[in-house]
Amino acid sequence: MPDPIALVPLPQSVLWSEGVWETSDPWGELSVGLNEDLPRTEYSLTISPSGANLAAGSEAALADGRNTFAQILTGAGTSIPCVTIHDHPQYAWRGMHLDVSRHFLPVGEIETLLDVMALHRLNILHLHLTDDQGWRLEIRGYPRLTEVGAWRSRTLKGHMSGDEESWEFDETSHGGSYSQDEMRGLVEYARRRGIMIVPEVDLPGHMQAAIAAYPELGNFPEQRLGVREVWGISDHVLGVSDTAFDFVRDVLTQVAEIFPAPYVHIGGDECPRTEWERSSAARARMNEWGLTRVSEIQGRYTQFAADVLAEHGKKVIAWDEVLESHLPDDTVIMNWRHGNGLATATSRGFRTIIANNEHTYFDHYQGDPADEPLAIGGHTTVKDVYTAEFSPKKLTEDQEGLLIGLQGQLWTEYMPDAEHVQYMAFPRMCALAERAWGSPRQSYAEFEERLRAHLPRLDAFGVRYRPLD
Ligand code: ACM
Repeated sequence: MPDPIALVPLPQSVLWSEGVWETSDPWGELSVGLNEDLPRTEYSLTISPSGANLAAGSEAALADGRNTFAQILTGAGTSIPCVTIHDHPQYAWRGMHLDVSRHFLPVGEIETLLDVMALHRLNILHLHLTDDQGWRLEIRGYPRLTEVGAWRSRTLKGHMSGDEESWEFDETSHGGSYSQDEMRGLVEYARRRGIMIVPEVDLPGHMQAAIAAYPELGNFPEQRLGVREVWGISDHVLGVSDTAFDFVRDVLTQVAEIFPAPYVHIGGDECPRTEWERSSAARARMNEWGLTRVSEIQGRYTQFAADVLAEHGKKVIAWDEVLESHLPDDTVIMNWRHGNGLATATSRGFRTIIANNEHTYFDHYQGDPADEPLAIGGHTTVKDVYTAEFSPKKLTEDQEGLLIGLQGQLWTEYMPDAEHVQYMAFPRMCALAERAWGSPRQSYAEFEERLRAHLPRLDAFGVRYRPLD
């Protein structure tokens, strides 16, 4: 009997058996078919000395089975070990978030990430396309978004600590953007690997790059801003003019056309209200709309975005701050601020994705900061991801049923290039995939042993990762 092969994430049921399948063309000879008797999320893979068969209840489950097969083949040569696998995921949404605003990544680098995500049966790439530090997507009718909003002339080096005068900058200009056709190509590349790309347009905050390109989108159109060169939260948010709302309509309409996913992420996080408080136009609008609290302006934006997207058959996903105003019932909440938020969102009946800052933020240090490249802060090891209790508050069965997924986040303030992104992603992403799949859990030691044997597959894809301790 061959040594068991370390699969990550571990399928729900794996039975290695005697014998090998001798073939020099495993993909060519694999027999594949949909089987309507299987549940939609399930696949069944059998490799015996006479051949290999993959059956699945849906195209998505077939993709999962193919990706497991790919893991078995990696490094196996022409003697493929025999195995019977029955498998299905715990969560429908098994996501990775990628911020291409703070640092732009060329399409080819995103493709590499997609390849490795697929290998781990992760099925959602949440692409954070816009933020204060760079607007990355071509929008027809708004050329300055990418001509101006995609470029910053310099970038803060290090943290925003101490006296502003003491901050140091990298004086090279940074930027880039994706054409709509490039994004359509990426969507198709991902689809062929069983991954859906969910775009994020962060609004009404995190909009400084757009306002730098079109000052009339802001609260004080006479104010001349640049694309933000430092990190942190910008006070410059969308204003309340018809021009700003028309912009949101135009952007979301085009985004809905480019990305076939049934969801669009509208951000909604970290939106300061200071400009709205100072703006006479905002006060006039509040009177017109019958609002008493400035914070409700954000609620108007959320509802407006939801209405625009609904016209295109799409639903809203947003960060958990949107719970502070009234929301459409079918909004999906992405919980990031604290695990307790899972109880809050699900108690109000919202479908919710686990994206907790405590366990799924891969911009945190993954070891002793003295030995690691500069990061935003925090400390989240691969073991922390594997062993996390995501909800500190006990959830009822109904609430558990509203948790539709788990997602890791790659915020790239301190990740200037693809190699650095990979170093921060792996191997934490392997642990995340295991938890998102809902693999049977024994102990961290058992997982670590499998992970050690799995790392050569990352080598085979040429991606960088932090070595295990
Ligand atoms: C977030 O980390 N601002 C969602």
